[in-house]
Amino acid sequence: SITPVLLCGGSGTRLWPLSRKSFPKQFVKLVGEETLFAASARRLSGPGFAAPVVVTGSDFRFIVTEQLAEAGIDPGAILIEPEARNTAPAVLAAALHLAAADPEAIILVAPSDHVIPDAALFRSAVTAGLVAVAQGKMVTFGITPGHAETGYGYLELSGTPEGDGAAVPLTRFVEKPDAARAAEMVAAGNFLWNAGIFLFAAKDMIAAFRSHAPALLAPVEAAVAAAKPDLGFLRLDPAAWGGAEDISLDYAVMEKAENLAVVPFTGAWSDLGGWDAVWREGAQAAGGVGSSGPVTAIDCEDVLLRSESEGLEVVGIGLKNIFAIATPDAVLVADMSRAQDVKAAVAALKKKG
Ligand code: GDD
Ligand code: MG
Repeated sequence: SITPVLLCGGSGTRLWPLSRKSFPKQFVKLVGEETLFAASARRLSGPGFAAPVVVTGSDFRFIVTEQLAEAGIDPGAILIEPEARNTAPAVLAAALHLAAADPEAIILVAPSDHVIPDAALFRSAVTAGLVAVAQGKMVTFGITPGHAETGYGYLELSGTPEGDGAAVPLTRFVEKPDAARAAEMVAAGNFLWNAGIFLFAAKDMIAAFRSHAPALLAPVEAAVAAAKPDLGFLRLDPAAWGGAEDISLDYAVMEKAENLAVVPFTGAWSDLGGWDAVWREGAQAAGGVGSSGPVTAIDCEDVLLRSESEGLEVVGIGLKNIFAIATPDAVLVADMSRAQDVKAAVAALKKKG
């Protein structure tokens, strides 16, 4: 069976004021009836999947257990990072933890903040990747690029994907290119976006770290070996963890690895990278008004209005291309085209204190 490893350590500042440092976007009901984290755990449950391993920070541990319980999912383990060190140490820690019981363990690393509405189609893409994993490959999942996004990784296909969804070998993995490079790759036609989801055997990922990021191995191995059980959580050793570099899996390993393959995923996928993406998920139709909570939109077009509090009425009149997010202690109103600037606004607020 496949063991899902759910990463939920990020803070998602671009969805402020709903996503907060103490309560990041993956734990919030952004679209639909479930939180993104609960939906991610459910997407990777059922036949063929073992109990998930969650890697998260200490601050989020009870949110994780509460949301898993609500979803009716028993975790296999919850690893607590003493500090966020980005995804490379997090993935390596999970791989080492699982390899201790079974080096052949097959792992599916998944972010907990994506929207993938067709869970069954996604599970069949994962299953299609198992053939390549059996051949020692590390499998990525590729999305047809919609625009020259600079916040994603790009996967260069070495051939044309077969109709049956089987994995295609990768020529190259390019993480977060600049705008010109991104435009070139989209125009070239043989690149897919990296969905940020990876399928591999534990031993192969550990070997990849040994080849491409050997300095991470000793501190993370020590942090896992000296991990302390605490009320059902497994706390990685803080002293050892402190010696691990802060770096993403994409930069540390994926850009350098030679045994990569990609399964194209043709279903809908969004990483909800901003309020414009949240609006698009909920209001696909032209002129659509997305709403949540007690809101009223009059003569509005291409607008997202959200009130995150029962008693807080939000009314929009004659708006176009605007999102307005009201919470009890902060209100954000912005042009839809400025969704990416929320991150900078949060940084500026932090500075102000
Ligand atoms: N446990 C833990 N600890 N999780 C983390 C940490 C950490 O220190 N840092 C990030 N995560 C989680 C985030 O919560 C998210 O679910 C996932 O790991 C990916 O991290 P992001 O920071 O969101 O990565 P990204 O969006 O910039 O880039 C990745 O995803 C893109 C697709 O959404 C890359 O894999 C890109 O190549 C990819 O295109
Ligand atoms: Mg992301």
